[in-house]
Amino acid sequence: MDRKVTVVGAGNVGATLAQRLAEKDLCDVVLVDIVEGVPQGKSLDLLEAAPVEKHDAKIIGTNDYEATRDSNIVIITAGVPRKPGMSRDDLISTNAGIMKKVTGQVVKYSPDSILIIVSNPLDAMCHVAYEASGFPKNRVMGMAGILDSARFRAFIAMELNVSVENTHAFVLGGHGDTMVPLPRFSTVSGIPITELIPQDRIDAIVDRTRNGGAEIVKLLTTSAYYAPASAACEMAEAILKDKKKILPCAAYLEGEYGFNDLFIGVPVKLGASGIEDVIEITLTDEEKAALANSANAVQGLKDLLKTMDY
Ligand code: APR
Repeated sequence: MDRKVTVVGAGNVGATLAQRLAEKDLCDVVLVDIVEGVPQGKSLDLLEAAPVEKHDAKIIGTNDYEATRDSNIVIITAGVPRKPGMSRDDLISTNAGIMKKVTGQVVKYSPDSILIIVSNPLDAMCHVAYEASGFPKNRVMGMAGILDSARFRAFIAMELNVSVENTHAFVLGGHGDTMVPLPRFSTVSGIPITELIPQDRIDAIVDRTRNGGAEIVKLLTTSAYYAPASAACEMAEAILKDKKKILPCAAYLEGEYGFNDLFIGVPVKLGASGIEDVIEITLTDEEKAALANSANAVQGLKDLLKTMDY
């Protein structure tokens, strides 16, 4: 194939993502990890599934970035996941160092690539990758909003007993407890859920969405990976196919929504050059306050990064 996507981190999210990318026949995949044998073994296993799954994507597993050369997109999932009782923010000291090191290697071999960050705490990790890469803002973005919105959509579909395909949802802000699910812009076949679901049930669904990651960590004792992999795959597909899809992603803001020099989840247009536009919607005072609260939380982590030697 003439399209190559590198996935760094061959753990739960990375390996599942490699599988999704290959099985959708979107691109060749290079899976990189520091642990010897793991990316090689998982790639070989995925390749051996290809005749049955009917795709011709090449999948290479490696510990050496040489094989990642000239990737169109690099998706970084390297780092440690949460354990029960941990917040995403607790991962910052370990994952910042990993993110900086990985980004340096990625940039060396794929200077024209688009970076999609998955490791947590997401918005802060986007800052690390943005600074370490020196890439323009359209080529560095984070996966969070699609995942949070997908969780919101799944809960809406369950509540109303309708197809998930009929649901749309919007979640703005940082990928943390302060995220801002927006019921007003969440619909079932174009009908706002505020017309379909009583307010107390909407509140419960919003709350479950905010805690969607923690709910899974509690059950699994590690963090979620099927839905995160699906969300990252949707971003890669939109870019590879130049779909101009409007999706909520962590983007570097320079004045949009009143925020500066900050990565936060907003609706963007994703196409061949990465983030092609940030879509600004008019928010109510209450929504604005919730977004400002979320931005403050991200700013706090960004400030913390400045004090750290990683
Ligand atoms: N370079 C490459 N790979 C690395 C590095 C590094 N410097 N450091 C760690 N890794 C690899 C680990 O060896 C492991 O295989 O990253 C992988 C992480 O996989 P898991 O532990 O299974 O974690 P996962 O569930 O995939 O989550 C990864 O994504 O969703 C976020 O919060 C999650 O930050 C976490 C990340």
